[in-house]
Amino acid sequence: MSKKILILGGYGTFGRRITRALSKIPGIECIVAGRRPHRARKLIQAMGVTALEVDVQDNASLKSALEGVFAVVNTCGPFHETGYNVARYCAKNGIHYVDLADSRDYVKGISKLDKQARASNCLIVAGASSVPTISAALVDVMAAAFDRIDEIHSAISPGNKNPRGIATMRSILSYTGMPIRVWLNGRWADRHGWSDSEKIRFPSPIGGRRVYLCNVPDLDIFPKRYGARTVTFRAGLELGLFNFGLYLLGVWRRWGWIRNLPDWAGRLLLVSNWFRPLGGYAGGMRVLLRGEKNGKPLEHAMFLIARDDNGPLIPCSPAIALIRQWARRGVSTTGAMPCVGLLKLDDITEQLKDYDIVLVRT
Ligand SMILES: NC(=O)c1ccc[n+]([C@@H]2O[C@H](COP(=O)([O-])OP(=O)(O)OC[C@H]3O[C@@H](n4cnc5c(N)ncnc54)[C@H](OP(=O)(O)O)[C@@H]3O)[C@@H](O)[C@H]2O)c1
Repeated sequence: MSKKILILGGYGTFGRRITRALSKIPGIECIVAGRRPHRARKLIQAMGVTALEVDVQDNASLKSALEGVFAVVNTCGPFHETGYNVARYCAKNGIHYVDLADSRDYVKGISKLDKQARASNCLIVAGASSVPTISAALVDVMAAAFDRIDEIHSAISPGNKNPRGIATMRSILSYTGMPIRVWLNGRWADRHGWSDSEKIRFPSPIGGRRVYLCNVPDLDIFPKRYGARTVTFRAGLELGLFNFGLYLLGVWRRWGWIRNLPDWAGRLLLVSNWFRPLGGYAGGMRVLLRGEKNGKPLEHAMFLIARDDNGPLIPCSPAIALIRQWARRGVSTTGAMPCVGLLKLDDITEQLKDYDIVLVRT
């Protein structure tokens, strides 16, 4: 009998890619859900899946959608807004759960469901996406070359032509210009979201991109996990105009000129889509480590580079990998935790092997 997987937001920007990948796996039956599936009717028909109308904040609709479900993939963010409702329901009712959360406090707080998830014999994981899952998997691979890791600097920059979702936009705007705590030189320092930019060089065809400080789960998880004295995470857009525009909005927010910046997401998305023809699809992710080996300084970096329009599959790959493993081999552990150390880099890149996405190590 096939295993039912409910993909909440399964027709959204990342959700649709997860749905397409999972619906090709034998033994899996995909159901997509969201508040307005009728708006994506053609896409849902093309994917050949069943659709349900569900609001993740509404327990009654959630309850009926979760009937007989083996595992849930939740893409309905931003997660600091949508909260733990789905994860809590799954933990209580023994349904395996994975989400794409990048909200720092949400991912950290998922452990509060640990006791309940163990009691119901299920696994609840938060943040199965670029951060903290892929960034941690890249650190794990490089860590073997070091005696001691001092600094971890991660960065992401998608290509301008790639689609952008409103949930991701709201998530970025939630910390743009707001105070964030960053672990620098062995102590917490106060910085602001989308500030302290840095230009980094990605391998071809991306080249140089400017990236800005972001508030992501890695900032809490990595100092403890790797003992590093400095951990930063930056993201940037391909077009300098957007990068600077976001920076400026952050400054105005700091000055008190803007209140509810996340509420601007719809309008900003509309404007940014006018500029979609500019730039390209190529985008990527970099993790740079600095530390020591045999008393000598050592530096290593790894890049995951999408050379075509399949870049948005990168943040989807951990959730796809987990569901594939759970459906094929069963779930080997129980509890509730951030998605760090559950997948190896090979498990993740396996999901990307049919696309023009490459790993580069320097
Ligand atoms: N951790 C990472 O590295 C990482 C990387 C990329 C993205 N993300 C996160 O992934 C999430 C998804 O991003 P996206 O760009 O794909 O977003 P999106 O395009 O806006 O899609 C969100 C989907 O969720 C549905 N949805 C939203 N609120 C809902 C609710 N209350 N009840 C039911 N369905 C709801 C939406 O459909 P309806 O509007 O029809 O309900 C839509 O299908 C974001 O939170 C983003 O921050 C994380």
